Amino acid sequence: VPVVAVVVAAGSGSRLGAAVPKSLVPLGGVPLVRRAVDALVAGGAQAIVVTVPAERAADVEDALNGVAAPVRCVPGGATRQESVRIGLSELGAADDAIVLVHDAARALIPPDVVSAVAAAVLTSGEAVVPVLPVVDSIREVGEQSSRVVDRGRLRSVQTPQGARMWQLRAAHDRIAADGVEVTDDAAACEYVGIPVTLVAGHRDAMKITEPVDLILAEALLAHRTA
Ligand code: C5P
Repeated sequence: VPVVAVVVAAGSGSRLGAAVPKSLVPLGGVPLVRRAVDALVAGGAQAIVVTVPAERAADVEDALNGVAAPVRCVPGGATRQESVRIGLSELGAADDAIVLVHDAARALIPPDVVSAVAAAVLTSGEAVVPVLPVVDSIREVGEQSSRVVDRGRLRSVQTPQGARMWQLRAAHDRIAADGVEVTDDAAACEYVGIPVTLVAGHRDAMKITEPVDLILAEALLAHRTA
């Protein structure tokens, strides 16, 4: 079964405070989007569509020059879910292909997690997400008060998130038609009744969002290559 991927990299990255779009920010001298795409290819992705900020498409294409699998850049949409939908429509893959959707901001995703997600799509027939336990205590905040939530029952969700192509296309078409907003692809699948299987995520797959995350990622990278 072919494994293909959408890498969403069309965000501005305003929370990172960099002068360039986040996907072009260098980590150990290599742009985040290049690290993410290389890791997906190492984990088994055979073709990739990257959604990019329209005005920086040429720079992202430069950054992806020489990747060991076919890569195409397309302008993203106004939201992550729109970008995913565009990416899916640009992937010429068969309906039963395994498709992985990955945030470029999770640049240090271990290839083992990528292949574990793809394998779980095959065996489960469901949507698949990598997750980690929640380390902080969590409180749910209401208008007047707040209450503790049992963190033992909570997981934080990473990417890549996987499903069969027909499942993900159906899910994103339906949420677009219904005007529903979701923050990830598993939520889109769940909305159309596709169950979600969990696999183990990895700390390295953290989303690089704020300046401190880039500092941590640089340290993780240095530790990795030491
Ligand atoms: O904003 P957030 O951190 O949730 O974005 C997650 C990922 O989605 C990022 O990699 C970002 O580049 C991507 N994105 C996108 N198109 C948008 C907004 C975000 O591809 N319009």
